[in-house]
Amino acid sequence: MGRRVEIFDTTLRDGEQSPGISLNPQEKLEIAKQLARLGVDVIEAGFPVASPGDFAAVETIAREVHGPVITALARCVPNDIEQAGTALKPAVRRRIHVFIATSPIHMEYKLRKKPDEVLAAAVTSVQLARQYADEVEFSAEDATRSDPDFLARVFGAVVEAGATVLNVPDTVGYILPEEFRQLLGYLREHVPGIDRVKLSVHCHNDLGLAVANSLVAVAAGVDQIECTINGLGERAGNAALEEVVMALRTRADVFGVETGIVTQEIYRTSRLVSALTGVSVQPNKAIVGENAFAHEAGIHQDGVLKARATYEIMTPESIGLKQSRLVLGKHSGRHAFRQRLQEMGYTLDDAQLQQAYERFIQLADRKKTVSEAELVALVSGLGGQLEVPEEYRLVRLLVTSGTPGFATATVSLQHAGVISTEAAVADGPVEACYQAIDRITGGHVELDSYQLQAVTGGKDAAGEVVVRLKENGQTFLGRGLSTDVIEASVQAYLHAFNKLVAARAMGAAHSGAQTQNEVAQAE
Ligand code: KIV
Ligand code: ZN
Repeated sequence: MGRRVEIFDTTLRDGEQSPGISLNPQEKLEIAKQLARLGVDVIEAGFPVASPGDFAAVETIAREVHGPVITALARCVPNDIEQAGTALKPAVRRRIHVFIATSPIHMEYKLRKKPDEVLAAAVTSVQLARQYADEVEFSAEDATRSDPDFLARVFGAVVEAGATVLNVPDTVGYILPEEFRQLLGYLREHVPGIDRVKLSVHCHNDLGLAVANSLVAVAAGVDQIECTINGLGERAGNAALEEVVMALRTRADVFGVETGIVTQEIYRTSRLVSALTGVSVQPNKAIVGENAFAHEAGIHQDGVLKARATYEIMTPESIGLKQSRLVLGKHSGRHAFRQRLQEMGYTLDDAQLQQAYERFIQLADRKKTVSEAELVALVSGLGGQLEVPEEYRLVRLLVTSGTPGFATATVSLQHAGVISTEAAVADGPVEACYQAIDRITGGHVELDSYQLQAVTGGKDAAGEVVVRLKENGQTFLGRGLSTDVIEASVQAYLHAFNKLVAARAMGAAHSGAQTQNEVAQAE
C-alpha cells in the first residue's frame, strides 16, 4: 500500500466564499453528507463567527455527519476560536482551523501588526484552540509571499504551542510549481518539530496552477491537500478535488500515493454542488465537464470503439458516470423509479421520494424518456428544497410572445389557500412572468442573476433554470426544471422567493447578522 494523502474539502467554507454563492444550513448539510459518502478525510464546514447561519451549519454538520473530521475556521481572535469550539462540540472528530497572515503586505496593510505581534497571536490562538479540540490546524495566510525564514519561525512556534497540522496556503494563487517545491523543502528542513505534525497545502487558482501546485506538493511529501468540488472558491477558486484525486489515481505510477476517495461518487457530488450553488460546470472542465468523456472527431470515435484506452486515460465509470442514456419513461412506475435512484446511489426518505416522483412524472409526461442526467438534476438538492415551505405555489401560467412585439404573461398563484391572478406585459416572456408574480406577492424583488441551460442534448431536453434573488445583502437561490423553459423560469423564481419569505419570517434577512464581509472589514 502506498502513502496515504488526506483530502481536506473546503467547498462549504472557501467554496462558499465564491461570489454569489450562499447556501442555507440544510443545503450545507446535504453537501456534507455527500462529502462523507465521497470519502473525504476532513470537511471544513464553515466559519462560525461569520454569521448565525454559518454557526448553525457547522453545528448541524458536527452533529449529523460522521466519518470525516469536521473542522471550522477561526481568525486568531479569542471570540472566533470560542465560537468555532462551541459549534464543533457535537462532532465525534473535530478540528479547529486558525489562521493569520504572515506576508509583509498583509501584516502591514491588513492586520497593521508587527511580525512579532503576529507570531504571538498565532501561538496564543493555537493554545486556546487546543482547549476546544485535540486537532488544531494552523494556516499562515499568504504563506507563499511570506519571508520563508519568518514563516518557519511561526510554524515552529505553533508546533510548540500544540498545532497538529501546518497548512501552507498559496492564498493569492501566485507561486509557481518549482518555487512551491523548494518552499516546502525549505520548511521541512527549517521548522523545528515539523515531523511530529501533518503538513498541508491550500492552493488558489489565480494563474490556473492550483492543481499543478497541489500535485507538486504531494510529490514533495505533504500529508494533506485542501481542495473544493468543481474548484469553487475565492476569485478563480481553489484546487479542484476531482482533478487532484483523479490525477493521483491515473498517474499512480508517478505519485505512488492513495486517497480515501470513492471516485465513483465524484460525478454525483459535482452535480449536487453545482445544483445547490447554482454555479454550472463549464462543458470542457476536466473530469466532470459535459464533454470530459465525449469524443467528437471521427478518428477519435473510431479509436475508442476499437479500444477505449486509445483516447480515454480514465473511464467515465470511474467517476460514477454511467453511459446508459435512456432510463425511465412515464410508464416506469414508482417502484422502478425508486430502484433506478438506488442504483444511482440515492437513498431518499418517503417524503423526498414522493416529491421526486411527482417532479419525474411531470417531466416524463412531456418527454418519452428521462435521462440519467435529468434524473440527477431532479433529485439533486431535494433535501434543501424540502426544507422550503411552498408559501406561493404556481397554479396556472399563460404566456404569449412573438417577434416583433411584447410578451404577456398571466400567472395564478396559490397563497394561504387563496388563488390570485395577475397579468403583465414586458419585452420578454420571463420578465413578464416575474412582473406578474411580483404584483401578486406585493413588491419588487431584486433579481441578482438568471441562468438557463439544457440538461441534456436533443430538442426535447429539459431546461434547468437557476435564479438568485437578493434582499438586504442575502442571496436566495432557486432552481426549476422543465421541458418548458418559461415554466422552469417561474418554478426557479418561486423556489427562491419562497426561501426569501421563509428568511423574512425567521427575521434572518433583517437580523443584522454579521456577514463575511463585515468579518473581513473587522480584521
Ligand atoms: O486562502 C487562504 O489563505 C485561506 C486560509 C484561511 C487557509 O483560505
Ligand atoms: Zn483559501
